[in-house]
This record gives sequence, structure tokens and C-alpha cells, in this order.
Amino acid sequence: MAIIYHVKSNVFQLDGKNSTYLIGVYDNKFVTSLYYGKKLEILKPERLSVIRELGFSPSPNDYFYQRSVSLDTLPQECPSFGYGDFRIPAITIEQNDGSRCVDLRYKSYEILSEKPQITGMPSLRDDGNCDTLKITLKDELTSVEVDLYYNVYNDRDVITRHMVIRNEGNEEVRVTKAMSCSFDLRDNNFNFLQLVGTHCEERHIETTPLRHGITKIESRRTSSSHMLNPFMALLRKDTTEDVGEVYGINLVYSGSYEGCIEVDQRHTTRLQMGISSFDFEWPLKAKEQFETPEVVMVYSANGLNAMSLQFHDLYNDCLLKKHYHHPIVVNNWEATYFGFDEEKLDKLVGAAKGLGIETFVLDDGWFGKRNNDECSLGDWIVNKDKLPNGLQGVADICKKNGLKFGLWFEPEMISIDSDLYRAHPDYAIALKGREHLHSRCQMVLDLSRKEVCDYVIKAMSDVIDNVDISYIKWDFNRNITETYSKQLSHKYVLGLYYILETLTSKYPNIMIEGCSGGGGRFDPAMLYYTPQIWTSDDSDAIERLFIQYGTSLVYPPTTMVGHVSVTPNHQTGRVTPFKTRGIVAMSANFGYELNPQVLSEQERELVRQQTHEYKHLRKLIYKSDFYRLRSPFGGNDCAWSFVSKNKNDVYVMYVRILNAATNEFDWLKLKGLHPNRIYQNVETKEKFTGSELMNAGILLPRHPYDFNGLMYHFKVVKE
Ligand code: DGJ
Repeated sequence: MAIIYHVKSNVFQLDGKNSTYLIGVYDNKFVTSLYYGKKLEILKPERLSVIRELGFSPSPNDYFYQRSVSLDTLPQECPSFGYGDFRIPAITIEQNDGSRCVDLRYKSYEILSEKPQITGMPSLRDDGNCDTLKITLKDELTSVEVDLYYNVYNDRDVITRHMVIRNEGNEEVRVTKAMSCSFDLRDNNFNFLQLVGTHCEERHIETTPLRHGITKIESRRTSSSHMLNPFMALLRKDTTEDVGEVYGINLVYSGSYEGCIEVDQRHTTRLQMGISSFDFEWPLKAKEQFETPEVVMVYSANGLNAMSLQFHDLYNDCLLKKHYHHPIVVNNWEATYFGFDEEKLDKLVGAAKGLGIETFVLDDGWFGKRNNDECSLGDWIVNKDKLPNGLQGVADICKKNGLKFGLWFEPEMISIDSDLYRAHPDYAIALKGREHLHSRCQMVLDLSRKEVCDYVIKAMSDVIDNVDISYIKWDFNRNITETYSKQLSHKYVLGLYYILETLTSKYPNIMIEGCSGGGGRFDPAMLYYTPQIWTSDDSDAIERLFIQYGTSLVYPPTTMVGHVSVTPNHQTGRVTPFKTRGIVAMSANFGYELNPQVLSEQERELVRQQTHEYKHLRKLIYKSDFYRLRSPFGGNDCAWSFVSKNKNDVYVMYVRILNAATNEFDWLKLKGLHPNRIYQNVETKEKFTGSELMNAGILLPRHPYDFNGLMYHFKVVKE
């Protein structure tokens, strides 16, 4: 049992594999954060609970003669606003008299052996060794009760949290802030790490020293966004990839969110994450409840790579659905954009035959009268001018060439110039009396309305039921504006999950690739439904080094999609070797974003080799440890490796960015091998001990040109 209740000291001890989280109940009233860090054996946990008087920090009435007790200085697990604590609250609840103060006091606890699911939202599965602590707090005046859930994964260093707010009173209240987690760390000696970006430049790593006051990441786009991924981490000042403490938090949610850190006057650090409280208000009538999404908290005492391994294993084991086949695809977007017809596709797919590619994905432009991005979203009816034999005609082309068929949709959108809009203008999110606001010439369907969600399900089902498809690319190319109510944003996300839940249950064998102009909605909740996501609209191999490296901090390579595209690259104009493009794309779910007709015979041979190699690598990627060996951020190269769980099979990828004339000796050191085993380079047959590869490294060759890519495959052999 990973949850121990120390009766005498009124302390809950949550033990992971190498970590401990201690929660106190001060004076049987206030639920406090006592400790989070390396695993502890502790004799007197109450020793960690300290109070000291501080000027300007108010005391509750029951402590009139004990000024040292103040919510402003107690480290707390569920701080509220306006009743003593001036720091950021985790919860605010507006009452009919206008007050937003609640005085939440400890009521009871329960230890559950099953991990509870969250209504209407994805959450992580139990891995078979999970225990849950539920702590209930109560505000006497309003009878609002709050359940704090802590799910402890006993064999990992992972705690997931969420909170349920229940209105047990008789009057309506309004929830205006409800974080999924909040906790206070005992000091502020940290750097702050976030994943920042924009369209075509997602999830770049940014690290800054943590300062006093509030540091915040947020999305107000009803999307987890290209700009700031719902992930943040605190690192000790000396933390690197391989050593030092890290606290990483990731929200299982696809809409507007916030992650806040506050360093206070006593140099303690409060961390919280949840749905964005900006433009948010959720009414709770008597006996109603509100559930927050789940947040995942990972602790590592051994640097960033160890944190990533925890996230990767957890998501592979407990988030992603495992039964899907992840095919090698060829996608026609960069090959044709909107300019295709059946004849062209016949040639394109025909040229893919025999290359080892498994699925053809027909991208945007197959429906309505969509020859550009100005119309037809919502009209999921095949364009017979382009495809006279309908979608089944394309499916038949795929079949005759030994490929499966996949199809692009952008289900959440509506164009003004569409039959759907002409019939149902009210389906678009809009503000009464104001002109529409366009982004990529399109508007968003109001998924907060069930009938709109049901329309989407029916329109997609009508297509899926009438053509053999095994794969869907689900795109989302604008963010949401004109939020006409403070509930719209969250209701939209719930509507989206309802659609995805319905469709994935109805068509369990159709794999959905997520996409939002690339990686604009790369979050764990989307991954629950769409187990792989088009990582970025930037397909340039060099820019992808940064994007994939940053993404790998949290998300396993099994969730990313990488394609080899043509050169000059369509986004950057850069020319990189075909081999390098393959190495980068093969480190994710692999495919091609080009017309195979344009390939030279030599390139076709390379494609055959790549798909052959990838079929072996794919099996490994899904059961491996991913190591970052060299960072492209601030460097001139990037290296990473996949090491099978039994440490016997190893792929190492290396890309040098700009070349130099110097003849340097550059040794690349590997990680995660067995020091005493003998590893053989599959290509050269040369043998090494694991300790040599890890401590002395492999000597990299002189690079012949810019953007040189190298791939090594080692296997353990018996001596
Ligand atoms: C954005 C996606 O990221 C692209 O791959 C492509 O599907 C286009 N949308 C199509 O409109």
C-alpha cells in the first residue's frame, strides 16, 4: 500500500517508487503540503509542519490568541481566496451575496483501491498497482464540499490529481476558479521550464530562473495551443538531463488552461494547474458538482531524462489505447495541396506500390467544392468533379496497390460558404449582433450544443460507413473566439470529447491521427483519443530536431508523427539529405509527405530500405527507453537513442547541423545500456562493451556536408 495514514500526527504519506508526498492536517482543520521529494522514512512527520508569526498575515477567528496560525503562511493543498491567504487560490466560489470566499476545512478521508474516472473527460488508467486518497473539505457556511483526489502509482514516481466540488447547500453558487492541483514546496531554489512555440515551431524548450511573484503559462484559445503546451517543470539549479531534482506537471485537457507558480514572501513555492480561470464561471445548483480534469505530477531525482522516461512509460501504459496499428503512411498534402483528382491519385498511389508504405492518406480537398481553404467545411460529401467514383474509387486504387486508405476531416469547423452554414448559420460560434471573426476563412462549430455534436457524428459516420477506411486525420485549424458565455469554452471541450468518445467506440479499429495545423493541440487528453499527432506543419528535418526534442520531454516518440518531405523544403526552402530526413522522421510514427512519382530510382531504393528498417524499429520504439544524448538547443547537433527494455537492442540517431572544415574528434556517449554486455554494430559487425559505449563513446566520422545524419544499430551478442 503506497498510502499510509499516520494517525498520531494526522499525516498522509503517499509513496511512489523513489518519492514521497506528505500531506498534513494542521490542528485537524487545514490540509497542508508538508513534503514532496525523494523517498522518506520519517519518524515524526508532524515535525515538518511549522508555523511562525508574520506581520500582515491574518489569523482565523479560532486563533485569535495564536497569531502564528495564518492561511497566508501555511503551505496548503487547496488554498482559497479572501479568508487569509493572499497567494494564488486553487479555488474561488462566488455566492449570491457577491462573496468569493470559502473557508475550506478538513472533513474526512477515504482510501480507495480503484482509480476513479472523471465524468466526460479522459483520464489515465490504473496500471494495476494504484491507490487513491480522497480528502474531503467543507465550507460550513455554504455547505460546499471539495474532494481532493490523489492517485498514487505505487511502482512509479507519479501522482495524478483532480478535484470535485459539490454543492451540498440549498443555494446556487458559481465556481470561478478550480485548479486540478495545488501544492506548496518548501523553498524556491528552482529554474522554471516551459515548452513554448507557435505554428510551425512547437514545443521549444525555454528555461528561466524562478523569481518572486507569479509565473504563469496559459491558453485562452479553447485549445491547449501551439504557443504554450500545458506542461511546466521546476528544476533544481544544478539539474541536467542526467542529475538533479525535477517536478513536472502536465494537464490532461485540450482547452483553455493555466499553470501558475508563485514564490511568496517566505520563499516558498506554490504550483498549480487546471482549467483557465480567465472568462470562466460554472454555476452549481444545489446538489450539483463540478469535476476538474486530471493533472499528472512526476518527480525525478535524476534529471530531465528520467522525468521523461516516467511520462513516456506512464502514457504508453495508461493513456494510449494499445490495440491500434500505426502504419507507415504517404500523405498527399505537400504533394498536391488542393490540386488533385482521381487520375492524379491513381498515379501517386501507384508509385507508392512496393515501397513498403502501408496506408495512403487523402488530405484536405476531397469534399464539397473545396479547391481552396475558403469554403465547404462541414459539407462532408465527396466532390464528384475531382473523384467521379467517390471515395470508394480512391479506396479501390489503394487496394489494388496493396495500401490501406485514410481520410482527412476537420470535423469541428464550418465555412460560411457551405451548405451546412446555409442551412444552420446558428451552428457557428458567434456573438449576437457582431460580424463573424474569420481565421483561415473558417468558423468553429458550437460543440457546446449536443445537436451540433450529433450532426458531426452523423456526418462523419455517413462517410465512414460507406467507404473502407482504416485511418482518419483529424485536423483543427483555428482557435476559438467569440466565447459568448463563461461556460462555452469548457462545454466545447466536453462536446469534443463526447464526439471523440462516440466515434472511437463506434469504430474501434480506425486509428485517428490528431492534428491542429501540426502540433497545436498536442496534449494527453487528445492523445487518449488520437494516439499519434502530426507533430508540426514544419516538415523540415532540421527544424524538426528542435520540435521533436522539446516534445519528447513529456510525450513519448510513439505519439509523434514524422514524414519525409521533398527538398527544397516547403516551409524553409532548406535542402537536406534524403537519409537525414528519414532518420528524423523514423524517430516518430513514420511516413512520407510527397508524391512518390518524383522520387529518383536511388531515392526509391532508400525508401525501401527506410520502410524495411522502420518495421523493425517500430516494434522497438513501442517498448523502449528514449534517451536524449545531445540537445540542438544552443548546439550544432542533436542525438538521441531508443534502447529496448531488456537493453539488448539499440538504435542511435545523430544529426549534425552545420558542417565545419575542422577535423575534430567527436565522441558520442550512449546511455541506458548494460555495462557488461557486448554490443555489436549490426552494419560493421564491430563489438563494444556497454560500458565503453556509455563512457568512452563512439567516434563520429568527419561530416561530408551540412545536415549529415547518421544511424547506428547495436545488438547484444553472446561472447
Ligand atoms: C493543416 C495540417 O497540419 C496539414 O497537414 C494539412 O492537413 C492542412 N491543414 C490541410 O488543410
